[in-house]
Amino acid sequence: MQIAQQMSIFRGIAEVLNRSFTLREALDAALYRIVELLGVRSGWIFLTEPETEQLRIAADVRLPQALSVAGKRRMAGDCRCIQMLRNGELTEPVNFVPCARLEQVLPQATESHRHASVPLIAQDEAVGILNLWLPPGREFTHEELSMLEVIAHELAVTIQRARLFDKVRHQEKILRDLLQRLMLAQEAERRRIAQDLHDHAGQMMTAIIIQLAQMATRAEERQDANAAALRRLHDIAQQGLDDLRALVHELRPSVLDDLGLVPAVRSYVDRVVKPAGIEVDLHLLEMAHRLPAEIETVAFRILQEAVTNTLRHARARRVEVRLDRRDRMLIVMIRDDGVGFDPEAPGIGRGSLGLHGMRERAQLIGGTLQIMAVPGVGTTVVARIPLPEDPHQPKGPSRLEAP
Ligand SMILES: Nc1ncnc2c1ncn2[C@@H]1O[C@H](COP(=O)(O)OP(=O)(O)OP(=O)(O)O)[C@@H](O)[C@H]1O
Ligand SMILES: [Mg+2]
Repeated sequence: MQIAQQMSIFRGIAEVLNRSFTLREALDAALYRIVELLGVRSGWIFLTEPETEQLRIAADVRLPQALSVAGKRRMAGDCRCIQMLRNGELTEPVNFVPCARLEQVLPQATESHRHASVPLIAQDEAVGILNLWLPPGREFTHEELSMLEVIAHELAVTIQRARLFDKVRHQEKILRDLLQRLMLAQEAERRRIAQDLHDHAGQMMTAIIIQLAQMATRAEERQDANAAALRRLHDIAQQGLDDLRALVHELRPSVLDDLGLVPAVRSYVDRVVKPAGIEVDLHLLEMAHRLPAEIETVAFRILQEAVTNTLRHARARRVEVRLDRRDRMLIVMIRDDGVGFDPEAPGIGRGSLGLHGMRERAQLIGGTLQIMAVPGVGTTVVARIPLPEDPHQPKGPSRLEAP
């Protein structure tokens, strides 16, 4: 075989391997080319399944009819070439391997009971076998076998890469699922603690405050010496209750569950942002209906974290808080005129959860999060969250809203 011809075969195979989107597509296309270019009768590839270590048929071209019937049942199970690969006897392309399958389906054609076998090996790992069924009397030349070795290596590397990719994707999915469950559990736990604090400590303190108020008033009327101390105790208890309410609200504002996102944001700004002495520019879209609960929760938590960051880090004079809807997207924007920061700086976001948490929350429901911060100028956080086809959805249980 001429060098130019060999080069064209290599190029053709490299091209189909690069062009294919899936491993299956790549194997089918490459095998088809090999069968065509080398003028063999048929070709098939066995691949080792990573979980079971079993070799299974993964691609075939012009397989004899008797071998492809019944869902290719005859191609299942071990045979000579598979055993050779397992025993480490198939380390390079060989011209003749006796084949029990061919023997079984073509008992008369004794000259056709063998095929060439090429191990698919990448980084010392055998990932499969390429079998080529030659016309009677034909065998591969030494050159052709060497070329097949190179092609087989190329195929093996493609297979290994596709598998690694699958593995990473699978692990990423597991991580994402875990994170989603974690956030779900966190949200449920926050709601439970908020409810408990409100129902128990909150009720008890309210009862104490009422009694202290009455006792203080009576003592004042009697001009009792303890009147001032009682009034002071009442005020301390009242302050404690206000703090408790703020904590309950921070944990899980009931207005978010009861009235929805816009009232919850308004209430959050009134309770937390304005008292911090910062000027607030509030633009909240009017919504005729509630959004799905998971979207409301994610939007609220992102806004809460971004505003908290402004209060904690920005030393800002003004903060702009926006909720908008554009092209079936909910846009949450928080912009401050504070000190800003460099989001790319080493160490930023390391060891903290805020920025990562905002991004993860947005991504978990198919959205995105953008942070634009410039040192000395300010910080803008924008979340874009896709809305369902019909945002007029009744509020109901959802992924981020565990009971
Ligand atoms: N609005 C902002 N203005 C100035 N710096 C900010 C702002 N938002 C974030 N940063 C910087 O980015 C860092 C990371 O923010 P992130 O929210 O991830 O962590 P954190 O607020 O420090 O801690 P936490 O995990 O409690 O949120 C902050 O420590 C701060 O330096
Ligand atoms: Mg933070």
